Amino acid sequence: MKKQIAALILALVPAFGFAAGGGAHLDEIDVDLTDKAALQDGLKTFANYCMGCHGAQYQRYERVARDLGIPEEIMMDNIVFSDAKIGDHMKIGMKPEDAKTWFGAAPPDLTLVARVRGNDWLYTYLRSFYEDPTRPYGVNNTVFPNVGMPHVLAPLQGRQVMPSKLPEGESVACKQVQVVEDGRKQFDPLTGTPVTHEDCSQLTVEEGTGTLSEAEYDQLVHNLVTFLAYSANPVKLESQRIGTYVLLFLAFFFVFAYLLKREYWKDVH
Ligand code: HEC
Repeated sequence: MKKQIAALILALVPAFGFAAGGGAHLDEIDVDLTDKAALQDGLKTFANYCMGCHGAQYQRYERVARDLGIPEEIMMDNIVFSDAKIGDHMKIGMKPEDAKTWFGAAPPDLTLVARVRGNDWLYTYLRSFYEDPTRPYGVNNTVFPNVGMPHVLAPLQGRQVMPSKLPEGESVACKQVQVVEDGRKQFDPLTGTPVTHEDCSQLTVEEGTGTLSEAEYDQLVHNLVTFLAYSANPVKLESQRIGTYVLLFLAFFFVFAYLLKREYWKDVH
């Protein structure tokens, strides 16, 4: 038994190490799996921008359509681009060997990626591509250094750069970041305005280079991560609903169990 427990602990260690890996700061988000509009928007982005390379092969189109409240016809016309049928798994045609030649790494299946990486990691990753001419596709990523994936959402987000890493002759204004000392944000005692300093290692988007504003792009990624979170655990909503009924039943049952107990013990005392 002791051996088994030790084995279990050892098996879990790499999982924790992996989840915490990278060291880059992660932006946190709240994901609302009951938000159908967000889920539908996320699915649309996933089908349009990700399914060229990534599949979600443990998920069927039919199930997704039902869970997200999308009529079958609309699903077939707008989401299913291959010759797949509604009952098929969300697979893609790209062969892993080909992908490896093209990108240096095969794009992993994304059905369960939200469980492996976490929502915060995904949200930050998809907003952390920046221009880096030394990389094959001209982009790098602060959360996933030397990533093999091109920045497929760049037309939406625009040109994101790290000012300190720009080639000579190019310059982009560095971000102003509020000074924090001992964990407290600093304000000017006279004017009350935040004290800031230039941080050239922060990513900034060159204005006007993308079709979405920064807030709109963040929202799009938020919705996409909401969809990936749903995909990694499609029964979560269902189990929450059933859980509520179970608790209600237990509360209800308790009353009768108590009355019955009182009846049985009435003459014993
Ligand atoms: C042109 C092909 C391509 C497209 C399109 C693409 N990716 Fe990727 N993606 C890759 C490749 C290749 C990798 C593997 C990178 C590596 O290991 O260096 C990857 C890796 C990832 C990873 C990291 C997985 C992990 O745990 O290691 C995530 C998450 C991801 N992609 C999400 C997305 C999302 C979301 C979209 C749609 C917005 C998308 N990708 C579109 C090629 C693509």
